[in-house]
Amino acid sequence: MARQHSSAASWVPLQRRWLLAIIFMLSVTTLVAFFSRSGIDPCDRTTTVEHLVQKRAQKSPAPPAVAVTGRAEPSPLSFMKSKLVLLVSHELSLSGGPLLLMELAFLLRGVGTEVYWMTIQKPLEEDGVIYNLEQKMLDRGVQVLSAKGQGALDTTLKSDLVVLNTAVAGKWLDAVLKENVPRVLPKVLWWIHEMRGHYFKSDYVKHLPLVAGAMIDSHVTAEYWNNRTRERMRIKMPETYVVHLGNSKELMEVAEDSVAKRVLREHVRESLGVRNEDLLFAIINSVSRGKGQDLFLHAFYESLQLIQEKKLQVPPIHAIVVGSDMSAQTKFETELRNFVTSKKIQDRVHFVNKTLTVAPFLAAIDVLVQNSQARGECFGRITIEAMAFQLPVLGTAAGGTTEIVVNGTTGLLHQVGKEGVTPLANNIVKLATHVERRLTMGKRGYQRVKERFLEHHMARRISAVLKEVLRKSKSRAHSNML
Ligand SMILES: *[C@@H]1O[C@H](CO)[C@@H](O)[C@H](O)[C@H]1NC(C)=O
Ligand SMILES: *[C@@H]1O[C@H](CO)[C@@H](O)[C@H](O)[C@H]1NC(C)=O
Ligand SMILES: *[C@@H]1O[C@H](CO)[C@@H](O)[C@H](O)[C@H]1NC(C)=O
Repeated sequence: MARQHSSAASWVPLQRRWLLAIIFMLSVTTLVAFFSRSGIDPCDRTTTVEHLVQKRAQKSPAPPAVAVTGRAEPSPLSFMKSKLVLLVSHELSLSGGPLLLMELAFLLRGVGTEVYWMTIQKPLEEDGVIYNLEQKMLDRGVQVLSAKGQGALDTTLKSDLVVLNTAVAGKWLDAVLKENVPRVLPKVLWWIHEMRGHYFKSDYVKHLPLVAGAMIDSHVTAEYWNNRTRERMRIKMPETYVVHLGNSKELMEVAEDSVAKRVLREHVRESLGVRNEDLLFAIINSVSRGKGQDLFLHAFYESLQLIQEKKLQVPPIHAIVVGSDMSAQTKFETELRNFVTSKKIQDRVHFVNKTLTVAPFLAAIDVLVQNSQARGECFGRITIEAMAFQLPVLGTAAGGTTEIVVNGTTGLLHQVGKEGVTPLANNIVKLATHVERRLTMGKRGYQRVKERFLEHHMARRISAVLKEVLRKSKSRAHSNML
């Protein structure tokens, strides 16, 4: 979609221009949202989309007057002013991990922190994505440095705080700091966003017990790390802080703008060929078995049958699968298409390519389905984004989803695996038939977001962690001197 817009900008009717501006305005923070839900396993973040960079490289229209301006209230992070913070990212791409760290970089810059950035793994050849992201950081006053050599070591030693992003970044410690590792560990905060088995490698995480703290996106992920490091690796987690993520201000602005929402809704529905009164159930994740699009389509088919059998009076329901990539030609993509064809539900199921901005879809749909399998999402940012748009969530009772969705109040949970298919089908029918309940759940979800899943909530949670980590590293440094 985004791509169409950029090339179409010259002929779109004038009244749509401001709308495009809104879509363009959804900056890095919103991109995080999409990419953080990519991949096969929970919390895996490895997608890159080249065309985004081309699009971002073109100058977008000036943002409308709703652009974020300085708010009066002081940031909870203001005590970080003139502190020196080094952010170490295992890679730099449009995937969730690095983009989330960039969000932190910008929050810190906002309060006058001196921020340094190092990327551990970079390809040898020129890379447009990296160039653009680095440019974006430089524009906002983040100092981008090489992750190797004496310069890297010197910066690390003089920093007040070092944030290592994702488990993989642990490799950098020995490789670059060498005999200085023990001096640095007391000021390291390790931010972990993943639960995949292959991260539990001694190479990556052997220094974990001695860092000042670990910051993890959900309680269940923290518990899993605690269990797994203890049982299989016989190492002890450091002090661990759970920090739930928050929605960016940009996303909230669109979610709370009823005019923008209405126009986006009409636009997306028109492009999908669905009517205003139809009910749209969408799953927004990159397409992979771990994210459960197959089981969702099975449940959707069952719900169509239920509606027919019971002769329920409901508007036509549709399933939207956002995050598809047919060019990848994977077995799984093909399997999904074949299922739809074999059940003859092509007119009810719509596949949408991977996209950069999810806001238009959230504005257009009626219910979000979060069907991640196995251990579920580490956090699952799309869930809080959908709730910001007053959408109820039908989610698996696993991972971060259970910490976001209140079963029966802001959505309905079903089991992971095949056992969850019929319950999900029943829940789809429930929300299709009970309009009042569906709308109420959406409103309650929105209230929940306003209470705890906004950017300033995340900033406050992070600030509590940073304060604690700084205090501890200072007292450790002090006792070392004595
Ligand atoms: C962690 O281990 C405890 C006890 O063995 C178990 O009850 C719990 O389910 C485990 N939690 C996770 C998230 O794996
Ligand atoms: C979606 O991606 C496929 C394969 O990359 C492409 O052929 C198709 O035109 C894309 N659809 C849209 C609507 O951009
Ligand atoms: C969610 O709540 C419903 C009742 O509202 C209950 O039947 C269902 O078992 C609950 N699901 C989970 C996974 O807790």
